[in-house]
Amino acid sequence: MDPTAQDKLRDKLADYVEDAHALESSVVDNLDTMIGTIDDPKLKEVLQRNRQVSRQHVERLKQRLEHLDRGTPVRKRIEGMALSLMKGVSDVLRTDASGKVGRDAYLLAHTQVAAYELLGRLAEAAGDTQTAELAREHLAEDKSCADEVAAQWDGFFEVTLAGWRDGATEKTTATV
Ligand SMILES: [Fe+2]
Repeated sequence: MDPTAQDKLRDKLADYVEDAHALESSVVDNLDTMIGTIDDPKLKEVLQRNRQVSRQHVERLKQRLEHLDRGTPVRKRIEGMALSLMKGVSDVLRTDASGKVGRDAYLLAHTQVAAYELLGRLAEAAGDTQTAELAREHLAEDKSCADEVAAQWDGFFEVTLAGWRDGATEKTTATV
């Protein structure tokens, strides 16, 4: 590959690392809100672990950006698919359908998985082995996060069911 093309790839790679940093930061914010709506200790713990992993990813991506001469990342706007997903999360929270938090946590983890699949390939193409390695590690950790959420579908369903029961009770009480 000619040097100009390689430079362009490196520049694109830095953009992707910035995007991943913005995505992870938003995931932390969304999980903060989601954790606040869940009372069940086991489910809360799963979401807190997901948040901890994302916090570590934010830090490691920040260090990568410094190596790529992008300095301290400014908060970028999340675009496209990730934005509609984040919006979906806040819409769900507005309706207090806390059982759907499991679904959204699962989607957030998989959005990160998709981002790292692409980032890893771009890093390989750009010849940046350290970023490629970081992408592989984050990919594996985010897959584990999704698996941890998926292991709790019964719990999330119970929360949903309990919410409906409470809602029905409130309605009955209100009409009495
Ligand atoms: Fe992550």
